[in-house]
Amino acid sequence: MLVYEGKAKKLYDLGNGTARLVFKDEVTAFNGARREVVSGKGVLSAKTSSRLFEVLEDNGIPTHYICYEGGASVRVRLAKVIPLEVIVRNYAYGSMLKRMPPLKKLARLSKPIVELHFKNDEAGDPLILPEDAIEAKIIDWSVWDEIKSLALKANSVLTNLFEKKGLKLIDFKIEVGWVDSRLVVIDEISGDTIRVIDEKGEHLDKELFRKGASGKQLLEAYKRLQTIVGEPERVCSDASLQS
Ligand SMILES: Nc1ncnc2c1ncn2[C@@H]1O[C@H](COP(=O)(O)OP(=O)(O)OP(=O)(O)O)[C@@H](O)[C@H]1O
Ligand SMILES: [Mg+2]
Repeated sequence: MLVYEGKAKKLYDLGNGTARLVFKDEVTAFNGARREVVSGKGVLSAKTSSRLFEVLEDNGIPTHYICYEGGASVRVRLAKVIPLEVIVRNYAYGSMLKRMPPLKKLARLSKPIVELHFKNDEAGDPLILPEDAIEAKIIDWSVWDEIKSLALKANSVLTNLFEKKGLKLIDFKIEVGWVDSRLVVIDEISGDTIRVIDEKGEHLDKELFRKGASGKQLLEAYKRLQTIVGEPERVCSDASLQS
């Protein structure tokens, strides 16, 4: 049963606390203002996200990931979504430069920053303080501590993985939610939600599209990213659920 259709994915409830995320070929930027169908993007993002979740799991970071179903589909545990976007930054970029003009683009931060945004399209996903989320009873202090530590752990695992491949992880966004009263990383980690550059400063992520690259150029970058990350290893075995 389709429970949600977003800009990037469809979410199906499969029963028994499980769900299927189907990654779309559509790419959007500037809150949907630029939009294009890039055939093959869904499969690449599903594979990249699956493999990255496997690496997180292998490093003791709890996620919603169960297995890769093949194609553009990923099997996950259905979570109670916490309406926050958690951004981890290693280098100054994007909205951080806008709000903090003294910082130079790609300046290395003395330590990673964990930033919160309220996941609310009408409000434009605004940057908020942890205190704001706590006042609104979205989280409490202990959950904020847990979110921070989860985000920073994910950051060290991902930073190491990309460093070994000669790539720099500038920043990334994760979402978190509850599965059986456990805080886990949910949603996706793909070229749509990270910024990663090679030694020449070329992006392997959606920044290309924001800067005006064609769908074809984006697809090439996502293919490079997926190849570097590798194929998913936990492929779902029950063929009956793969339709
Ligand atoms: N394991 C999960 N359980 C329940 N919901 C999930 C899970 N993983 C991701 N989601 C939610 O599924 C939706 C995926 O859709 P998509 O990311 O395309 O939405 P979107 O257009 O980005 O809008 P938004 O993310 O703001 O809802 C998101 O709302 C995300 O929070
Ligand atoms: Mg989303």
